[in-house]
Amino acid sequence: MAAQRKTRVAILISGRGSNMVSILDAARAPDYPAEIALVLSNRPDAPGLAHAAACGIPTKTVDHRSFPDRASFDGALQAELEAAGIELVCLAGFMRIFSGPFVEAWAGRMINIHPSLLPLFRGVHTHAQALAAGVRLHGCTVHYVVPELDAGPIVAQAAVPVLPGDDPDSLAARILVQEHRLYPMALALVAGGRARLEGNRVVFAGDVATPEGALLSL
Ligand code: GAR
Repeated sequence: MAAQRKTRVAILISGRGSNMVSILDAARAPDYPAEIALVLSNRPDAPGLAHAAACGIPTKTVDHRSFPDRASFDGALQAELEAAGIELVCLAGFMRIFSGPFVEAWAGRMINIHPSLLPLFRGVHTHAQALAAGVRLHGCTVHYVVPELDAGPIVAQAAVPVLPGDDPDSLAARILVQEHRLYPMALALVAGGRARLEGNRVVFAGDVATPEGALLSL
């Protein structure tokens, strides 16, 4: 039987790229539904770029500092994504905000990982926000990207307890372990067509028998 065609995915990074590494590792499995066809960074010195290149993945840099405004930067990104035949965009620590038209162009075809249990703690410094709020559970979320920041429909979440004595760094480290489990799983659901955006909800295919979309890791 012919192997199922894989969805062509671009991973966009700005730095370390540890989530990207977890996805590249998962994507080595023959039955993984996504092929990582491009890793793209807005920073030429992003450590994740070298790792991707060493894995034989095509890489590109579109340096935001070379563009006069957001629209022209987004236009250059779009050109690279089209040239690589990308079907699904996966943001993994990509620290730029897109223009509305770019987000609209990728509606239902762009996902992000955010280090909090959305809709709590949007934006930056999420672990400090969680500690300040005194929550006992914190975590990470994979969601579709919509024009409003960190507000898109949720594909999957993982939670961790907030422990006495936690500081933002200890919490970040515990959550990162869960990010690395969650993102490859959520990307597989989306790339394989088992999770998709319908209006402002994520719907799951009937064969997603276990509620992977509500994964809870304690
Ligand atoms: C991750 O913790 C990710 O959730 C966060 O940046 C980190 C990137 O780490 N993303 C955001 O804050 C997006 N707003 P990585 O480069 O090692 O994957």
